[in-house]
Amino acid sequence: MDPLPKPFAVPVLSEAERSKQDRADDALFYAEPRFVQHLDGAFRSRLTALYAERIPPDAVVLDLMASWVSHLPEQGRYREVIGHGLNGRELEANPRLDRHWVQNLNLDQRLPLESSSVDAALIVAGWQYLQQPEAVAAELLRVLRPGGLLIVAFSNRMFFQKAPRIWTDGSDRDRLALVAKVLMAQGWPLPQLIAEDTRAEGPLGWLGGHGDPFFAVIATRPQDSDRRQGPIAHA
Ligand SMILES: C[S@@+](CC[C@H](N)C(=O)[O-])C[C@H]1O[C@@H](n2cnc3c(N)ncnc32)[C@H](O)[C@@H]1O
Repeated sequence: MDPLPKPFAVPVLSEAERSKQDRADDALFYAEPRFVQHLDGAFRSRLTALYAERIPPDAVVLDLMASWVSHLPEQGRYREVIGHGLNGRELEANPRLDRHWVQNLNLDQRLPLESSSVDAALIVAGWQYLQQPEAVAAELLRVLRPGGLLIVAFSNRMFFQKAPRIWTDGSDRDRLALVAKVLMAQGWPLPQLIAEDTRAEGPLGWLGGHGDPFFAVIATRPQDSDRRQGPIAHA
């Protein structure tokens, strides 16, 4: 089946910046499940605390580019948690997901979700693999409700061969700025940026050892009446 037409999006990256070392279909790389943690405990605790603080109870949550683990607080009660990723077995093993689907976002960025149907969209250690982040950002703006929240979190780890050049060549600060720039080009308002050290868990942390550094970009979909006349308004 042909992919659906690309969502309208304002380009930010050049073609060279989208290229990556391993150009084979991403589905091959993710064909076998990886039942591992991609981020350390310090990062995960920081992320869960952020979710507890920012995601309202009863929200419809979209966990885009997810795996077998969820970073949502255990006590959090949400109306629905929808998962997406590239490995069906990992998603089936994720206890927080009420439903999920598998889709390669580098081939087709259109999300099979109703407009204004999601309260909080989350991407953890996933944005770094997007070759068409502009179209994904435009789709997220469409599927979030006015007032809905997008949280893009990442650290400094990656599958290097699968990350586009714009990500592998940049610093942590460049990556924060990049996510913000891509979002704003699609009509998102200025996001909040977080860059923090974490303290390693256990004895290493007591001795001052560091955990995975924590970066997040948090954006709120404006109420329709607040939306500036950006490109997305004409799409
Ligand atoms: C490092 S893992 C992070 C998984 C999860 N968010 C977590 O916190 O454990 C990167 C994830 O990005 C997703 N991913 C990578 N490339 C993708 C692509 N082309 N299309 C859709 N998802 C992709 C996969 O689902 C993979 O599990």
